[in-house]
Amino acid sequence: MLMLKGHFGVNRAGHLVVGGCDAVELVRRFGSPLYIVDEQRIRENYRRFCRAFADRWPKVMVCYAYKANSNLAVCKILQGEGAGAEVSSGYELQNALRVGVLGEKTVFNGNCKSRAELRLAISSGTLINVDSIQELRVVERVASRLGRPARIGFRVNPDIKTPTHPHIATGLRESKFGLDVASGQVMKAYRAASKMKDVQVIAIHSHIGSQILDAAPFEEEAEKLMGLVARIKKELGIPLQFVDFGGGLGIPYKPGEKGLPPEELASRVVPVIERVVKEYGIEQPTLVFEPGRYLVADAGILLTTVGYCKERPGMPDWVAADAGMNALIRPVLYGAYHHIEVANKMRAKRVRLANVAGPLCESGDFLGKGRKLPAIEPGDVLAVFDVGAYGLAMSSQHTAKPRPAMVIVNSGKTEIARLRETYEDLMRLDKIPSWLA
Ligand SMILES: Cc1ncc(COP(=O)(O)O)c(C=O)c1O
Repeated sequence: MLMLKGHFGVNRAGHLVVGGCDAVELVRRFGSPLYIVDEQRIRENYRRFCRAFADRWPKVMVCYAYKANSNLAVCKILQGEGAGAEVSSGYELQNALRVGVLGEKTVFNGNCKSRAELRLAISSGTLINVDSIQELRVVERVASRLGRPARIGFRVNPDIKTPTHPHIATGLRESKFGLDVASGQVMKAYRAASKMKDVQVIAIHSHIGSQILDAAPFEEEAEKLMGLVARIKKELGIPLQFVDFGGGLGIPYKPGEKGLPPEELASRVVPVIERVVKEYGIEQPTLVFEPGRYLVADAGILLTTVGYCKERPGMPDWVAADAGMNALIRPVLYGAYHHIEVANKMRAKRVRLANVAGPLCESGDFLGKGRKLPAIEPGDVLAVFDVGAYGLAMSSQHTAKPRPAMVIVNSGKTEIARLRETYEDLMRLDKIPSWLA
């Protein structure tokens, strides 16, 4: 039985179809391994997310988290839809400005921002979520030198447990992110910032983690953030205009897994905000959301070609493909599941149990294990699903393998969005010291 999400199809030849294109044909034209991004799917995901919240709250800003996939074409698609940007490096901020996102629709997060990054953020009017009191002092100095006030919020640590991989759970008290609430750091930071001439304190922020499929932790986050908004207004007289909930909405990766629809998320979070606003008589804030994975993950697939196949009596076959942990690190880094199909044999019977490995010299170099697949031969094209987020963005050149190319598809149209790296690209930045030359 085929287990594909609705935006994929299968053509008469039994080949996978993505964005109106034959996946096998894409590999023939653009080479292997190859990332594909379906433009239309990104647009659908963004519109659905926005609608879910806009139906319930008048002021919402959706800032796409560039770390999920900072390819310029992907950023441009979302900018065209009206998305703001969540950035966590100078390069991502530069990308946001380059594709035309306004500074006022951009938020800058991170626990170790450089002075150069802060200069760019302040001069573009970006909202900076400050992560420590030391950072606040640096922000003030940079703003004062630029002669332009910094627009800031603080990232707070809400101490919330999330049902996700520990590496991407970021809201626990022991996490490196945000100011501690219980010890009074949050109030101390807002008080200090409110006295600074070159700083406008307008926001509060937290991000509890990624790939979360349960609404309860988001509800708890809303309670905690809104409680702080009310307290900051009452005790310090500061009316916060932006309440930034971070990202984190997960997607179903396994066939049959249940997702958390954005409508359900909105229906659980917004009533908390409504209640606190009413109870404390505070002004309706703009709600900021920073989704990354939800917007782009299921719009992306990785196509990789089989080189060899080893049968092993009583054990799964080993299938060796030309992409591994260099192209997609999530399976070994997070134990993540990515569904795999054979793109040129979509209707073939699944008769073998196989482990799919990459070409690198590490046992962690695999894309999936124990998968029921059709009989596999050299030259077959495997499709690895849901890789539009944290796929190419987290890829490496491990064992000096050039990174794959990326192609955007839309209703049968195709265009390169990122060139395949070459040996020259790999060599370009290395230098041999003069005494060795
Ligand atoms: C501060 C912040 N915002 C947003 C995101 C995006 O998260 P997701 O892709 O899970 O929506 C992240 C991801 O780690 C993050 O650290």
